[in-house]
Amino acid sequence: MEKTRIEVKENYQELDSVLEKYKGRGGVLIKALQEAQEIYGYLPREILIHVAYELDVPLSEVYSVVSFYSLFKTKVSGKCHLEICSGTACYVKGMKDLLEYLDENLSLKPGGVSEDGKFSVSTANCVGACSAAPVIKIGDELYGEMTLKSLQKLLEEHGHE
Ligand code: FES
Repeated sequence: MEKTRIEVKENYQELDSVLEKYKGRGGVLIKALQEAQEIYGYLPREILIHVAYELDVPLSEVYSVVSFYSLFKTKVSGKCHLEICSGTACYVKGMKDLLEYLDENLSLKPGGVSEDGKFSVSTANCVGACSAAPVIKIGDELYGEMTLKSLQKLLEEHGHE
């Protein structure tokens, strides 16, 4: 059964077996954090504290590694994370309608995750493609001139039934 990302916070058993192999070794923090993220899907504060404690590394060092490398996520996100540009051009061209669509159809609000865990959404500052407003970013891909119809299609392409 696929692990739901949120409910496992208190269960450190799997994490502890990962950390066990790294204890007492130098230069292993990034690798340990990568494996922790593979287990939980993201790295909430309590996991960072646990890793710091178990590896005997200052928490400040753990935080600086996590914030330096963009591969680390400290917030839960869906398998597909949509960033909806909220810069001026996108705002004027209706980014709010896109947000409303997600709320109405997936009960998905900025900062949230859809019930099936497939989608999460946040707003972003101008992503630099104003002439194609309104713009949605997924990973490194930009999707411009978004309408409710193209948003629906985009969601379907990313697994929405
Ligand atoms: S305002 Fe959205 S891309 Fe610039």
